[in-house]
Amino acid sequence: MTSGPDSTAHLLLDWYDRHARDMPWRTSPKARAAGVRPDPYRVWLSEIMLQQTTVAAVKAYFERFVALWPTVEALAAAPEEDVMKAWAGLGYYSRARNLKACADTVARDHGGQFPDILDGLRALPGIGDYTAAAVAAIAFDLPAAVVDGNVERVFTRLFAIETPLPKAKPEIKAQVAAMLPPTRPGDFAQACMDLGATICTPRRPSCILCPLREHCAVIARGLDAERFPVKAAKGEKPVRRGAAYVLERSDGAILLERRPPSGLLGAMTQVPTTDWTSRRDGDTTTAASPDPSIAWRNAGAITHVFTHFELRLTIFHGQAPHTREPGPGRWWSRPHEIAGEALPSVMKKAIACALPEAFAEETK
Ligand code: ADE
Repeated sequence: MTSGPDSTAHLLLDWYDRHARDMPWRTSPKARAAGVRPDPYRVWLSEIMLQQTTVAAVKAYFERFVALWPTVEALAAAPEEDVMKAWAGLGYYSRARNLKACADTVARDHGGQFPDILDGLRALPGIGDYTAAAVAAIAFDLPAAVVDGNVERVFTRLFAIETPLPKAKPEIKAQVAAMLPPTRPGDFAQACMDLGATICTPRRPSCILCPLREHCAVIARGLDAERFPVKAAKGEKPVRRGAAYVLERSDGAILLERRPPSGLLGAMTQVPTTDWTSRRDGDTTTAASPDPSIAWRNAGAITHVFTHFELRLTIFHGQAPHTREPGPGRWWSRPHEIAGEALPSVMKKAIACALPEAFAEETK
């Protein structure tokens, strides 16, 4: 068997032709063979969504987005509020706002066409190095090195890279760039991702089924694949604390408000809450509630893990008469309306904590 970057890439592309996962933003193998290129809008949308969560979780969101907004112009014409609602649950809401800003820019400044060069893509709102490379390779077949978590795992194993992440990133990118095949860079990128997702998995990889097993340094040296990528020892996440107040009207409606337009979960909907602070001096009692005269019941606590901190919220439940006004900037959301609110997962947890019977299902 020959070795070297070319033959490794070809083995991978051959494997991809047989085993590519079917995804709504990909072209079928037949269309691919006939030279049909995927729609850049769909590639871009999928890449932004996939930055947050798994392929399985993204599929339904993706299908809903393209049904509502089949083109970048349609997304640009949509009210931001509708886009935020369709995004709710995917997390990282600043990405949804950037998504909208990017669609607006492509529609307004680029005649509805995504730029087909790396720098042009990189200049768009919300598009970083990874997404620019992914869209360039997948949508436009440009020879860009696309490195996500799956690719990092595949390459640190393939070359037994002992440097811990994130320090190893430039080394990994150089190896990916050196292996780029002269044709089909987009398929090559997605083949690396699929290999990492299905064969070269974090735990118990299926090395026996791997098309690259004869080229893999970890196998050749008898190393433990699970040890790669090597990770730098990391500290625990900082903890922030706060309280959230679930006020329930006698008809079951819940008092909601909108978060500030920028920052964490910007413009999303929430129940009234205190600041979330890592200091111990924040008020997390009923004194900080929307109405301290209410007989608040302590309903328990929830924990939610964000990228940069862990949030521990004490949840209070209160009851209000049907006549109660919501007050400025707030509104009542009745049980059949709650599923349509732009509630992030942490708020669904908070409501379900206060009202387990009424809301466990609707807010899932
Ligand atoms: N993760 C991010 N982009 C992907 C893609 N195009 N295919 C599979 N997994 C991905």
